Amino acid sequence: MMRFIAAMAVLTGLLMGSAQAQQQPIKIKLSHVVADSTPKGMASLKFKELAEQRLPGKVVVEVFPNSQLFGDAKEMEALLLNDVQIIAPSLSKFDKFTKKLQVFDLPFLFDDIAAIDRFQKGKIGQELLRSIASKGYTGLGYWHNGMKQFSASKPLIKPEDAKGLKFRIQASDVLEAQFRALNANPQKMAFAEVYQALQTGVVDGQENTWSNIYSQKYQEVQKYMTESNHGVIDYMVVANTKFWTGLPADVRKVLEQAMVEATKYGNDLAESINAGDKKKIEATGSVQLTVLTKAQAAEWRKAMLPVYKQFESQIGKDLIDAALASNKSS
Ligand code: LMR
Repeated sequence: MMRFIAAMAVLTGLLMGSAQAQQQPIKIKLSHVVADSTPKGMASLKFKELAEQRLPGKVVVEVFPNSQLFGDAKEMEALLLNDVQIIAPSLSKFDKFTKKLQVFDLPFLFDDIAAIDRFQKGKIGQELLRSIASKGYTGLGYWHNGMKQFSASKPLIKPEDAKGLKFRIQASDVLEAQFRALNANPQKMAFAEVYQALQTGVVDGQENTWSNIYSQKYQEVQKYMTESNHGVIDYMVVANTKFWTGLPADVRKVLEQAMVEATKYGNDLAESINAGDKKKIEATGSVQLTVLTKAQAAEWRKAMLPVYKQFESQIGKDLIDAALASNKSS
């Protein structure tokens, strides 16, 4: 009898344990490297809000901004290990997985975010979203940030002004070639290290969007900025494929819809956030801002143009032409 009671107690314990385990919400860690106030930060928080609202008690989304959980180098690895389930690296950071995504880094390729949006929503853009599926990453969408601007320890007006300066770049061979074309010295560096590198003179300048520049306070350590719109920082939101496809189908469906809406929310806000942050930088009064004229921008474009030929065989001419064609809205 005693044995029977003990066996029942163990069984009940097991059943309760498994019922409890079933009730545990699915935890999704979403990690990124920028501030909550940026377009990527806002889209991440929107995804959390929508997912938890629509799947109460079933899903918890933990957002880790500012490289808190993983910095640039680690987040891709961590995603594959399922230590984090969703990340949104800039498109520049995928070049070890596919050379095709390098297209986004070509200088002066897209006129504006509207052109990028058209390209990403088109057939080729959607194919690119699936281009790293075989590596274990499921592309969930593109998030916008904005056009890149320069900052430096001296005014950058003509391409020759960049000569000899050390620039921080993201981990991208195209960006490296872009600065080499200017006879400058590019240095690949994680985003979290840039402020200090600028402050201590490890590098003299950098390129980024207004929202990243302002939220990282580069205006405290860079006296000169140039509005050049010479490139873009946009993101691919990616999930660990095993995790994502292993979700119950009904849960995944709701999360996919939450992602669609969070994407639209962030993308609709991106341009106004960047424009607002540019104004805030100007309002500090500590930065001398040059806005390139069309003729000046054409000089920079000309100096950087050799990069296209250099990467044409890796990226594919078709892809470059399709991206260029997206500049004309039809
Ligand atoms: C950078 O490294 O400069 C950016 O990719 C950071 C980001 O995620 O916007």
